[in-house]
Amino acid sequence: MKSSLPIGIFDSGIGGLSVYSQIKKILPNEDIIYFGDTARAPYGPRYPWEIREFVNQMLSFFDHCNVKIAVSACNTITVLGLEEFQKNHDFKIVGMSTGAQQAIAASTNKRIGVIGTEVTIQSGMHHKTLSALKPESKVYTQACPKFASLIEQGKLTGIEIEDAIAEYLTLFRKEKIDTLLLACTHYPYINGLIKAFMGDQVRVIDPAEDTARQIRNVLSNAEILNDNGKTGKGRLYFSGKAQQVRRIADNIMDTSGCLFLERNLRSSSM
Ligand code: DGL
Repeated sequence: MKSSLPIGIFDSGIGGLSVYSQIKKILPNEDIIYFGDTARAPYGPRYPWEIREFVNQMLSFFDHCNVKIAVSACNTITVLGLEEFQKNHDFKIVGMSTGAQQAIAASTNKRIGVIGTEVTIQSGMHHKTLSALKPESKVYTQACPKFASLIEQGKLTGIEIEDAIAEYLTLFRKEKIDTLLLACTHYPYINGLIKAFMGDQVRVIDPAEDTARQIRNVLSNAEILNDNGKTGKGRLYFSGKAQQVRRIADNIMDTSGCLFLERNLRSSSM
């Protein structure tokens, strides 16, 4: 496998762009192909079999793009288990870090909250990992189904998202958590509002940076890290309207050098 091949990153929609930005920061020379299934997002309320079918389509697209690694920038996909997809592809498939180690390290009172989609919270993955690392910790979890769909619509501020934050996070205030783990890649985009609601004493953990570091290690161990000194390019594909995403993306990330493109995964022209 050649180091000059691109990294593939995929998510249900625009959430994975928060991971894209961290990977870009840590691995500036890498070319990246992003796929966001915006036409079918959010995945959180969907059945696992449906999500698996969509993931197979995105990974077939990455076969066609000849990526050297595929990163699931989506907790909802990651918690379903990536091993079953691996056998059909030559590139390695890597998922999101749980962020559990960072959360344990950040917490003083060992009262930790976890927020994510229905699928992620029902999987219990973050709860189990936190409890395994620190059995005496108290873990509180909450699915936040409205968040991803509001964020996909670009509603990152305003009454709707503020009401949803109050609806989901009041529990954590009552339980006096001091650390909140974001187990969904869409949530960093409302980090400011979450912090404002929870107060300064609560640390908010985004596992995106840790995930990016893990990707660097995987590439480095496989000796396929691209360090040619040239700034990498980004091709960002979406199954929905690319221009709509572009308008949101311009406010949440550095879009310089990024091409925004549309691709229907169900079409036979792939
Ligand atoms: N960004 C995704 C995650 O990390 C999925 C959100 C959704 O599509 O519901 O879980």
